[in-house]
Amino acid sequence: MYVMMRKTSSTTAKSGEATVNTPFRKALMSLTVVVLTVIATITAVRQTAARSLTAWSAAWTASTMYLLPSVLLSASGFPASATLSGRIGLPAAADAVSPQQRLSSIGYLPSAVITGKSRQAAAALAPAGAAESAEPARPGPADRWPFERPWIVAHRGVSMHAPENTFAAFDLALREGADFIELDVRRSRDGRLVVIHDATVDRTTNGRGRVADLPWEELNRLDAGSWFSPAFSGQPLPLLEEVLDRYTGKIGLLVELKEPDAEGELAGLLIRRGLQNGLENRLIVQSFHADSMHRLRKLLPELQIGVLTGQTGKKPTEKDLDRFAAFADFINVRLDLADAGLVRRIHERGALTLVWTVRHAVEVGRLLQAGVDGIVTDDPALVPRERGQGGSREMS
Ligand code: G3P
Ligand code: CA
Repeated sequence: MYVMMRKTSSTTAKSGEATVNTPFRKALMSLTVVVLTVIATITAVRQTAARSLTAWSAAWTASTMYLLPSVLLSASGFPASATLSGRIGLPAAADAVSPQQRLSSIGYLPSAVITGKSRQAAAALAPAGAAESAEPARPGPADRWPFERPWIVAHRGVSMHAPENTFAAFDLALREGADFIELDVRRSRDGRLVVIHDATVDRTTNGRGRVADLPWEELNRLDAGSWFSPAFSGQPLPLLEEVLDRYTGKIGLLVELKEPDAEGELAGLLIRRGLQNGLENRLIVQSFHADSMHRLRKLLPELQIGVLTGQTGKKPTEKDLDRFAAFADFINVRLDLADAGLVRRIHERGALTLVWTVRHAVEVGRLLQAGVDGIVTDDPALVPRERGQGGSREMS
């Protein structure tokens, strides 16, 4: 009975509650639906906004951190590919700097040359790769040097009768009617091109030490004449630029570059003086360092260039001759190696040959017979006068 009464009571209560609350519950459910809809809408809107913001933010980051620097760098000449591949600190073409850019970067080339105002400058400004891919076209030797040969070349000036590589020896060569003055060039500690043969000043001056260790200020104080004779006391060591200024146009110059790597300085010096054209200025640069002369050929396509060979007492091989003749106008050989066969092989390759160094009259006849193009001698008087016309007379 007790159980029945409780069950009935409960049923009655539930039934009465449902009846009483139905409108309220409907309103509550509607409100809930509305609230949930609003919440869902707000969430969706926020998520969309967040996605958009992320995308915009990423775009901004990319443009400022990546694209903008790329644009700016490429506008400034920096390779964009290097930027895009992350090589910010190392330009892709860092090792492809042309010799001309190196010259200008270290102050050897004047601004007029950099802006390409002459044909020589335009050639000098060609990219290094272009110069390497093709040797400059050159006319044959007869066209290059329309002056009667063989020439008399005064070795270090008239070094038999005046101190070698001084103005006194060079002036004597001019007076004696030599066709060329031969001179040697080395680099001082401060990069000046000084006219001297030996690596040290010990033999031919009153000083001591290596030329490469001495600044020009000290070298310029040395006496380069007294060692030869008191009559030449006070002769200074000349600078190459002084020799160029004093003798160009009066006599030919055969400049021997003793340094293996000074062709850049030499090219800059010649460009600054407008002396790039070897034929016009009767100027030849030669060296035992063939690679240096090859580089010089690329820097100054119109210069006259020579390679010295035979220093070790061996004749150049066919391969040597082919290699030198590919870029040099002259293949100059040591006296004891010069014969008709070697002269012919040099001529067959379109080059000329100057033979060094004659110190005795008896050596001259054989060289003339062999057909050499020039005789380098300590004393021009050893070579018969009737054999040719003085080069200096033709230039005046
Ligand atoms: O002209 C070549 C000749 O001068 C090379 O020998 O020692 O006198 O410079 P060297
Ligand atoms: Ca020499």
